[in-house]
Amino acid sequence: MIFEIQEQVDLTPYNSFGVSQMAAYFADIQDPADLRQAREFAASKRLSVLVLGQGSNTLFINDYPGLVLYMNNQGKQMLPGAGMLRICAGESWHELVLFCLQNSLYGIENLALIPGTVGAAPVQNIGAYGVELDQFFVELEAFDLKTGEIRYMNKADCQFAYRDSIFKQNPGQKLVVLSVTLQLALEPALELGYAGLTDEIAEQEATPQSVFDAVCAIRSRKLPDPKQIGNAGSFFKNPVVSRSKLLSLRKSYPELPAWDTADADLVKVSAAWLLDQKGWKGRRRGGAAVHEDHALVLVNRDNASGEDVVLLAQEMSSSVLQSFGIALQTEVRII
Ligand code: EPU
Repeated sequence: MIFEIQEQVDLTPYNSFGVSQMAAYFADIQDPADLRQAREFAASKRLSVLVLGQGSNTLFINDYPGLVLYMNNQGKQMLPGAGMLRICAGESWHELVLFCLQNSLYGIENLALIPGTVGAAPVQNIGAYGVELDQFFVELEAFDLKTGEIRYMNKADCQFAYRDSIFKQNPGQKLVVLSVTLQLALEPALELGYAGLTDEIAEQEATPQSVFDAVCAIRSRKLPDPKQIGNAGSFFKNPVVSRSKLLSLRKSYPELPAWDTADADLVKVSAAWLLDQKGWKGRRRGGAAVHEDHALVLVNRDNASGEDVVLLAQEMSSSVLQSFGIALQTEVRII
């Protein structure tokens, strides 16, 4: 396809909340070589640049006045090392999980049904049901919008943390992920630690396929399908607090779910549970609402604007701050 930069493009199909905002300029990047031209175009017009995958973690609250790069390059390649796979950024993450399962490449079954692209996976360091992307990550290839050069980044370079990486900070935001290389296991490597996963598998034998099926079943039950109702999964991160804070909270709220972190003094607590105590499930503000089945998920119930969603989110985080003294951070990128 001939590379083309379009003007005034409606972003509704490019964000999973389904909010309607316009991009002043938009480029569908199927060949990463076109990024050089896109970069020159942006520089010549002094435009800011926004990189988008499937827009499953992005909320637009305004029209975007710059250039949107919709990363849509496709392809997968087995590399010489056993179980080593390089995947282009525009591939669908869930399709990759399926491909791996069908080709006896194991480890990422717990990450089934996460919406979004392979290129966005390291940005968020996606995680679910006891598994995070960085466990399988080897390296990625990125285009540096600042210098116009290609960079190869290993795990340490990416500074992965819980739902975080260098790509969420400056100057990492200037890096456009082109492909990701993962090391998959050749023998099943099951992670069954997440409460609920073994219950879901129940009497069946625990295999990569049954774990995959269980994860799909749990997600489908708890989380709304963005194709049916606009949402971006968890809107907030689970907050990390000191162990002493947890102990003091547990005096009043003994049931508060919490998990250990790599740092013995810090624990992650359940944002959904805190919000649920404040009765947020199902509440509406304008066209936006909190999902009935999960207090951490905001949905576009009825033609919500990005502003509706953000105002609702602000009210939710204020109520948690007031009652529990915990400041929630958004997981979703707000543009
Ligand atoms: N809970 C409530 N009320 C609710 C929902 C949940 O009290 O409305 C309680 C549950 O009973 C459970 C705890 O909160 O004790 C945790 O709930 P859940 O297992 O649904 O997980 P989560 O902490 O809300 C995180 C990730 C999800 C991931 C799941 C499973 C974050 C911000 N979210 O959610 O990731 O799928 O664990 O591993 O870390 C995402 O990032 O978009 C996402 C969906």
